[in-house]
Amino acid sequence: MKASHETMTRPSFLARATALLLVAAASSAGWASPPPADSAGARIATAGTPNGAPACAGCHGARGEGTGAFPHLAGTGAAYLREQLEAFAGGTRKNEIMAPIARALSPEQRTQVADHYAGLSRPAAAPDREARGPADLGAWIATRGRWDDGLPACAQCHGPGGSGVGTSFPPLAGQPAAYLAQQLKAWQAGARPAGPLGLMEAVARKLKDPDIQAVSDYYAGLAAASAAAPMAAGTKGTP
Ligand code: HEC
Ligand code: HEC
Repeated sequence: MKASHETMTRPSFLARATALLLVAAASSAGWASPPPADSAGARIATAGTPNGAPACAGCHGARGEGTGAFPHLAGTGAAYLREQLEAFAGGTRKNEIMAPIARALSPEQRTQVADHYAGLSRPAAAPDREARGPADLGAWIATRGRWDDGLPACAQCHGPGGSGVGTSFPPLAGQPAAYLAQQLKAWQAGARPAGPLGLMEAVARKLKDPDIQAVSDYYAGLAAASAAAPMAAGTKGTP
């Protein structure tokens, strides 16, 4: 077990990430234009389904912008979102709230609602903050990683400012800090599938608790600056 993570050296990480990036770039071309507001996916998001799935908007916000501890969905890749719904339904991504909701959706409905959220726009991420030094832990790990430990910079896969890349590397900027930390701990505990090529599980296993806290706070804080303006209009009328 341990050996397999330690053998993931810098070149092997980069080679695998590069391969995935190429796939991501090739497949991201299709979701640029937003789906119609009255699509099947939009109806699930705002009204739920007759067989018991609640409206996603109740927790994920009227425009998928996330509320409180509930994550953003808007603008995240469709393939990624659909895979998460399948993992919740199948129990490989363990979450008591999302499991029954995902199970209430048919595979077709999961695709529809994933396409809907992928097509919604997301505010531009704030630029990365320059790390003041290794003690500036969150910014340092996010933008530089810790190569002596084989830990790549998060930005290498999640893009500048944690804005996400293609459909396989989800955005991190603006997700609630507690949500981000919980995901990293879920990989360490085997409560979330390893994901494409096992990349993220390998990364998470290299993080210590203070790293997790610092990098989660860093990405949660990044979007706060840029999200304020574009989000204000969308959230105004929401109770
Ligand atoms: C009662 C609140 C609630 C409702 C309603 C809800 N969700 Fe969630 N959702 C959550 C929580 C909590 C999480 C975080 C789960 C975790 O920590 O793994 C989540 C996570 C997700 C994720 C994973 C996001 C990511 O970045 O990996 C997806 C996808 C998702 N929800 C889709 C949906 C869809 C589609 C619906 C509507 C059919 C929906 N949710 C309805 C609470 C809710
Ligand atoms: C080598 C590429 C790679 C690197 C480096 C990387 N990630 Fe990831 N990350 C991924 C992939 C791929 C996924 C999607 C996993 C899946 O589909 O289940 C992901 C998903 C995530 C998620 C889940 C997001 C959500 O919406 O639930 C979090 C949190 C995350 N990464 C945090 C980080 C942090 C923090 C770092 C830096 C310490 C980092 N990642 C570095 C590839 C990477």
